[in-house]
Amino acid sequence: MEKGYIHLKTKNTSYVLKVNDYGHLENLYYGALLSDKEDFSVLENKQQNMLGTSTIYSGEPDDKYSLDFVNLEIATIGKGDYRKPSLLLEHDLGFVSDFIVIEHGYGKIDDLAKNSLPIPQNFDHYYYVLLEDKISKTIIKLDYLLFASANVIARRVVVIKSTAKLLKVASFNLDMVNNHYDVYYTFGAWANEIRPVRTKINPGIFEISTLAGPSSNRHNPFFLLLGKETGLDFGKAYGFNLIYSGPFKATIERNAYNNLRINHGINDETFSKVLKEDEVFITPFAILTFSEMGENGVSHNFHHFIKHHIVRKEYATKARPILLNNWEATYFDFNEQKIKALINKASTLGIELFVLDDGWFKNRNNDYTGLGNYEIDNKKLPHGLKGLSNYARKKGMKFGLWFEPEMVSKDSEIFKNHPEWVIQIPGVTPSTGRFQYALNLALKEVQDFIIQNVTETLKSADISYVKWDYNRNLSDFYTLNNAFSTFFYDYTVGLYNILNALMSAFPALLWEGCASGGNRFDLGILSFFDQIWVSDCSDAYERIRMHSVLAKAYPLSVMSGHVSAIPNHQMLRHIPLQTRFHNAFMSGGFGYELDVTRLTPKESKEIKEYNAIVKLFQNVVINGQYYELHSGSQKDKKAYGVISEELDTALILISNGIYQTLPEINKLPALPLNDEYIYNVTALSQATDIKTFGSLLNMVLPKFIKHDGAIINYLNKRKSAEELVKMPVLETFKVSGKALKGGALTLYPEWSATGVSETTRMSQDFTSILYFITKSD
Ligand code: DGJ
Repeated sequence: MEKGYIHLKTKNTSYVLKVNDYGHLENLYYGALLSDKEDFSVLENKQQNMLGTSTIYSGEPDDKYSLDFVNLEIATIGKGDYRKPSLLLEHDLGFVSDFIVIEHGYGKIDDLAKNSLPIPQNFDHYYYVLLEDKISKTIIKLDYLLFASANVIARRVVVIKSTAKLLKVASFNLDMVNNHYDVYYTFGAWANEIRPVRTKINPGIFEISTLAGPSSNRHNPFFLLLGKETGLDFGKAYGFNLIYSGPFKATIERNAYNNLRINHGINDETFSKVLKEDEVFITPFAILTFSEMGENGVSHNFHHFIKHHIVRKEYATKARPILLNNWEATYFDFNEQKIKALINKASTLGIELFVLDDGWFKNRNNDYTGLGNYEIDNKKLPHGLKGLSNYARKKGMKFGLWFEPEMVSKDSEIFKNHPEWVIQIPGVTPSTGRFQYALNLALKEVQDFIIQNVTETLKSADISYVKWDYNRNLSDFYTLNNAFSTFFYDYTVGLYNILNALMSAFPALLWEGCASGGNRFDLGILSFFDQIWVSDCSDAYERIRMHSVLAKAYPLSVMSGHVSAIPNHQMLRHIPLQTRFHNAFMSGGFGYELDVTRLTPKESKEIKEYNAIVKLFQNVVINGQYYELHSGSQKDKKAYGVISEELDTALILISNGIYQTLPEINKLPALPLNDEYIYNVTALSQATDIKTFGSLLNMVLPKFIKHDGAIINYLNKRKSAEELVKMPVLETFKVSGKALKGGALTLYPEWSATGVSETTRMSQDFTSILYFITKSD
């Protein structure tokens, strides 16, 4: 086996490995691109004098070589490395392993072992390292896929041969010196997904993990390592994620020598595996990226990678149809007449797709019953899905449908006839989630059943969009063979088998994943579904914050946001329609989720205008480069922008949390546009609800009108406050790219209780403003 250095490169990063004199695989460096001419020996960890309690590996040739000080690519226990292992085996002689490189080199695509776990597409190079455990004789292969322009390295481990019991097989291990890093990660729960945390890495072990079944809303599988000084646009930033939809575990260990050990992969709690003869075990791919350009730099790498190497090409760059989903409009309480009324109205507003959500099949009038039957409820929909989809077509709209194929209710035929298909421990009453049971997707019969069921329904009508829901965590998972336990892994691979079959059969459909909102938002799902519903909280303010945190690791094109009713059903918050539009539009795939038949004339008019704007600009949201931006000094004010590739169009959203009346000069956040161009910057004509002002109205109206009386109510449904007092507020500027790049453009001042004018921006709690920036001819 060839000893020496291995230099893996992407456009701007280097990953330098060394097969050292002992045959161990060391990581010497991961960071900004180095030249091939570099003397890599200067990167090596030089051993200190032997320290008191250190374990010396062999004494030969170096009597100071201790694995506790080596940055290893595969980490095991029992030979002097006292950090957490990334690979743990139990074999005839115990738990100790010592992996030595036996072969390495560039490989061919065909060399990649395959099951249904997704493999990111179109990599530039594949490098492999084959290692053998001197003790158990286990053979493993480390796979490295290099994605040059995305600056991403994907890594995984394949256990090729082993008689040991595998107790932990993380997808990667990365050891590095801690340079005052913070970790940025997310936590959350149902309807409150994706809360961000940035915290110093302290000595000890930091972990994000889940055993919920899906990758879960508890923690998203992505996390960042940011230098202490790293900001949005500058400083070292590392990003990590896993291409997997099941329970994961990521740990960062900081030891007394200020070294960090990072590993990420399937959760080893509940996992063990004994290989059959000729069987291999494949971990999911994890991805690693690095940027010197701060948080935005690392998110650009992630976005590029997902758009070009993860998502299906069919929708990777396509603008999404504007949709209306009936869930928050009707919940389960609908019939054909009501749905047709929604379609009728939607078709006059420029909405392009109607999505029929939960409740269309027999016995599905509440959460308790009906899942698993998928036979149309003829009482509600006498002309079936076909009748409805044809109706939508006639009205010039497409038709989409909700499914929850992984679950069944107690009253379903499947629960009665195939109890063994349901995840339950024999003899133990299974626990429920949303009163439903989960099918065991690891079983081939269940996979076939789901594929057939969904296929039949999709063929039964003119359906062009699917919302695939999954509304509970898993429980009662079991194994009938106590020699191994791979329940979650097998479930996840089973899910991918199903999705592979359905994507090949229906490639043209737009597929949206959903799991009570964001309970399964990960790169595994995105290898099949084109986008994911982020949260069951549809409040405009909560959602834009969630989307912006997700955008650290995922492009807007894989998320979707809807304009919902006020008060918002989850927060009881009242946010003006224009703001609800701004925020949903800047969220990715765009739509509505409210009863459009109850819109006021003013709302209908606004919505028509908004939809025309979506059609003009959605391309920039889906395909543009996303930036989180700096905005003023107010803590609760945030800004986000997208810029088209040609730098001729950009959008900037400035969003308020709790509003403060600070007499601050507002500048349009700096955005890297083209220095040579002149741009028009404009915001939608301000449309404040008359009722916002309450009794203050009479300070500007010529005659006294009762502010909560019938006249104001009538007017409120038809006019904005600006229209009422004939004082339009239309912010529009002509400005150079250079000035925009410098953040020099001054915006209209915000309302601060000192009167209104044609240049007063009516900011309130949770409102936002969207600027459209277009190159001037
Ligand atoms: C949870 C989803 O997130 C909602 O949008 C809706 O589809 C319901 N399930 C339907 O049961």
